[in-house]
Amino acid sequence: MTIMTLDMDAEAVRSLGYRIVDRVVTELSDPSNRPPRPPTPSDEVLAMFGGPLPHDGTDPDELLSIIEDHFIPATTNLLHPRWMAYVLAGSLPLAGLMGALISSLNLAYIDPVNTRLAKTITRWLGEMLGFGRNAAGYITTGGTWANLVGLAVARVRRAGWDVRTEGLAEHPTLVAYVSEEGHSCLDKAMELLGMGRNQLRKIPVGSDYRILVDALEETIADDLASGLQPFCLIGNAGTVNTGAVDPLYDLAEIAASHRLWLHVDGAYGAFAAMVPESRPLFSGIERADSLAVDPHKWLNIPFEAGCILVRDWADLTDTFSLIPPYLRAGVVDSEVNLRDCGIELTRTNRELNIWLALRQYGKDQYTQLITNHLALTRQLGAWLEDAEDFEVISEPSLSICCFRFVPPDLRPPTEESEAYLNNLNQEIEMALVEDGRALVSGTQLSGKRVLRACIVNHRVTQSGVEQTLLLLREIGHKLDKQLRTQDR
Ligand SMILES: Cc1ncc(COP(=O)(O)O)c(C=O)c1O
Repeated sequence: MTIMTLDMDAEAVRSLGYRIVDRVVTELSDPSNRPPRPPTPSDEVLAMFGGPLPHDGTDPDELLSIIEDHFIPATTNLLHPRWMAYVLAGSLPLAGLMGALISSLNLAYIDPVNTRLAKTITRWLGEMLGFGRNAAGYITTGGTWANLVGLAVARVRRAGWDVRTEGLAEHPTLVAYVSEEGHSCLDKAMELLGMGRNQLRKIPVGSDYRILVDALEETIADDLASGLQPFCLIGNAGTVNTGAVDPLYDLAEIAASHRLWLHVDGAYGAFAAMVPESRPLFSGIERADSLAVDPHKWLNIPFEAGCILVRDWADLTDTFSLIPPYLRAGVVDSEVNLRDCGIELTRTNRELNIWLALRQYGKDQYTQLITNHLALTRQLGAWLEDAEDFEVISEPSLSICCFRFVPPDLRPPTEESEAYLNNLNQEIEMALVEDGRALVSGTQLSGKRVLRACIVNHRVTQSGVEQTLLLLREIGHKLDKQLRTQDR
């Protein structure tokens, strides 16, 4: 028998490690070197990442060269200082490098020291966001998962029967409520938890994209009258489309009067509760039973860093704990064991990076960053209002502003010009990707195709926002001219 390990020569590891660190530093020193979205890769490049199953190994230096020369250039550049698309942030230098340490040592998440980290960061996050000083919680891969856990806990806590053992059959139908601006991951959570998307009632919003409380109350009353069982009310603390924050205090009142679990999706926006001027918007967050937040969004902590906050560790253990005999030996009775608080067994250590970033920057630097982003977004809104070729579609809310390019001679738009404007703005969105100097994304609001700037990336500056607007104007006028010539 040949005894072998997969280890490498120490000097080779060192030299490869230095190459990786050098590449990181090069990218960080010039983050606009690559466009926000990569060009479409050639067939030759794609072929490098295909091919038959390798039987023989390959020299690691060669593999690293392939990654550096061909893979990285074909990937999205989230470090870009004019990245204002989706809700994607730009990573942090130290936490990024820590990722290499975490996976090189396969730092486990099950040890008491990491449980302490988990307890500390959930407590810190709860305090930062005004959820409460003694929050319990679980670090997830992101907001999708955090919301899924929130609804799983809600289902266990409010079903009124042992839903984990008995399931949902032959019991009243469970129904949840969210505004029609709720994130699609909530639909997915309803599907995965077996309750079905139809049982997530989508409540209309007002012109500010916040849930209409009267419509909510009417829907709950109708459902009760039909013999259904309302169990969970979901509030948005920063919707993905427009940054709208629902009236959480009113929702807390309604939840209390119907004994509904109040879950808040603050994956994107809840961090703005740290900023004194926007804190009043989040009034009621302290009454939520669970809160989803994404440190990999506004805190810019590298992916994957999501979190579900709850009031009590038992909310999680009652939902997830299931300890087979082969795991019992390792369980420390007196401690919360993270294995009992979530879905996974083996997983990467997601706690360390969050702790590291919160220690490195502290609440105050993060509050300053978000304060600046809120101000930048208001500035963007003001520039757009003053411009003769842009129209604001959703007023700046938190750090999102939706707008569209409207050629001056098409203002105010008529019913006829609306279709043209939708097409034009869609083309602008795509042309910006091609241009590669900045990126905003797009969405659909009240039937209008709009451009959407969302500032959570810590590298975005005022001049970056200004340059992006100039670029959009340049592209808008050029495309408008082209489209009108084609139409003739
Ligand atoms: C409000 C909101 N909820 C949930 C999510 C899903 O989070 P993730 O992409 O981390 O799974 C997002 C993502 O943008 C979001 O904005």
